[in-house]
Amino acid sequence: VRTRVAIVGAGPAGLLLSHLLDQAGIDSVVIDQRSRDEIESTIRAGILEQGTVELLDTIGEASRARTVGHRHDGIELRFEGEGHRIDFAATVGRAVWLYPQHEVLKDLIAARLAAGQDLRFGVTAEGIENGERPRVIARDAEGNPLEIEAEFVVGSDGSRSVARATVTGSSTGGYFREYPFAWFGILCEAPPSSEELIYSNSPDGFALVSQRSDTVQRMYFQCDPETDTAAFSEEQLWDELQKRVPGTTLKQGPIFQRDVLRFRSFVAHELRRGRVALVGDAAHTVPPTGAKGMNLAIADVRLLAAALGALLLDGDERLLDAYPETASRRIWKAQHFSWWMTSLLHVAPDATDFDRRRQLGELRTVVESEHGRAYLAEAYCGWPFDA
Ligand code: DHB
Repeated sequence: VRTRVAIVGAGPAGLLLSHLLDQAGIDSVVIDQRSRDEIESTIRAGILEQGTVELLDTIGEASRARTVGHRHDGIELRFEGEGHRIDFAATVGRAVWLYPQHEVLKDLIAARLAAGQDLRFGVTAEGIENGERPRVIARDAEGNPLEIEAEFVVGSDGSRSVARATVTGSSTGGYFREYPFAWFGILCEAPPSSEELIYSNSPDGFALVSQRSDTVQRMYFQCDPETDTAAFSEEQLWDELQKRVPGTTLKQGPIFQRDVLRFRSFVAHELRRGRVALVGDAAHTVPPTGAKGMNLAIADVRLLAAALGALLLDGDERLLDAYPETASRRIWKAQHFSWWMTSLLHVAPDATDFDRRRQLGELRTVVESEHGRAYLAEAYCGWPFDA
């Protein structure tokens, strides 16, 4: 198969990139080793920055973020049993949308297929050969070899990226940090327990009360990374959640999904080599607090789409040469924010009394200051793109 851009990975980054390239008149082939059904049903995060929603608007009515999703104009930080609202509208005049990532994927896949995109599921990339005409060596669902020859290859193939090794010389090479805790996530059938998301710091650890719809809720609580999801009864899960959100009585209902989310911070040492570049989780991972993962992937794509347009339409390599540096600025801002929200809200297993009191001091510093609230709101809603 020959195309202009080969895109490895049909997550939000790869699919949106194929759309933006198509808009510029550039053909691409997108492959993913997963099935369409798996991609469309894997539960991930749920918060879209305003700029993400605006970029998704370019797929037209296929984006249901504004119609099915819900705009949120604030969140609550809770500590010492008291809630403190961070008002996005009042501080930065922006908002976020609650719209699950797998719904974004359904919208993007439908829009790409309707536009005639060459999008292949069940195709596993085994390696990438860099060069003037880079090639993706892959295998289709039946195990038959498939080669895609392109002018450029993009690795949007997630945290276990195959493309990464071609760019960095190793599949792991990067700046890295681990955390001594994880999130236990649940989905339950119940009405929302509060109008807005609650990020709660308690002596028993962190909890996040999020939502999915009027009838399905998503909640998380801090746990040990080795926790076995089967080790808790439903009643125990509600106890764990409830004791971390003092002041609100959680509306309970049947729990139909549970998972443990590992916390990692990672940035690959290099984002581009020759005619191969990385975007999204292939390039970086953030811990989930603050919901930056997908939004950051989409911010990479915005830059890379422009750079590939300049390269492939005008033969101008300057934006592509600048891509690693330009993308890194936002990547490290998001790395900092995700690390900061994590350390602000979680209780480290080895925290001393001093650490605990210092943390409460930090929380007060944020919520009792207009500037502190604005600092959080600006990052949460997403930094403007032109900055
Ligand atoms: C969700 C996840 C997050 O990491 C976050 O900060 C907010 C919401 C969610 O899955 O709903």
